[in-house]
Amino acid sequence: MTRIYKNIVILSGAGISAESGLATFRSENGLWNHHRVEDVATVEGFMRNPEYVHEFYNEMRPELFEAQPNPAHFAITELQQNYPYEVSVITQNVDTLHEKAGNKNVYHIHGQINQIVCFHCGKVFETWGDVHSDDKCENCGARGFLKPNIVFFGENLLYMDKVDRLLKNCDLFISVGTSGVVYPAAGFVQIAKFSGAETCEINMEKTSNNSLFDRHIYGKAGTALPELVKQLLGKIS
Ligand code: OAD
Repeated sequence: MTRIYKNIVILSGAGISAESGLATFRSENGLWNHHRVEDVATVEGFMRNPEYVHEFYNEMRPELFEAQPNPAHFAITELQQNYPYEVSVITQNVDTLHEKAGNKNVYHIHGQINQIVCFHCGKVFETWGDVHSDDKCENCGARGFLKPNIVFFGENLLYMDKVDRLLKNCDLFISVGTSGVVYPAAGFVQIAKFSGAETCEINMEKTSNNSLFDRHIYGKAGTALPELVKQLLGKIS
């Protein structure tokens, strides 16, 4: 990248966490190869069998609790600490590796594994423990209304007003480790590009949004992102 940017937005997907040992969704051994999306990640699936859905996320929680950030996450911290302008992170990931690495301004548009929401009173709680379909809400006392604070297919994304502003104001949009097939996030590059941003993609392979990126870096996020951050910081020193 050839200049100094005033508003950098980084969009991350499961690929940024792959080198931390977490499975992506659509790879050969991906989560969606072993589970039906309709059963564990849709509103209908949750209404049909909430305990099954809770079990799925209960099983996932300990692994994500233990997981540690990798050089890609730490590179973002380095950029945020040393770049004199705004750097924001929009993540589709429900893990908390961005936070564990010290990233700031992180927007979890698909929710977080360590949160549950009561869809009776709307209160969001933090927990790394198991949740069950007949648990009681600590806030309103209603039983049977707790749902993992994960955005299921058929639900609105979180923080969309803020995200829309970030995308329309950014002058550099970097997409890391996402296949670009799940909308609306897959369309963020288009919003950023049409708003005048330069666009850059880091991925192991060609993605479906390929033509919308000005620059492609094919490689592992843990190597490519620190390298890109070095280039960005090199411009300001
Ligand atoms: P995917 O599994 O669809 O895509 C992961 C992408 O990361 C692929 O393009 C891989 O090639 C790439 N990748 C793998 N390892 C990498 C590495 N070390 N460095 C760089 N890239 C690497 O995951 P997402 O695009 O994040 O939603 O999926 C989007 C959404 O689909 C998820 O947030 C999830 C799912 O349904 C919810 O659960 C709400």
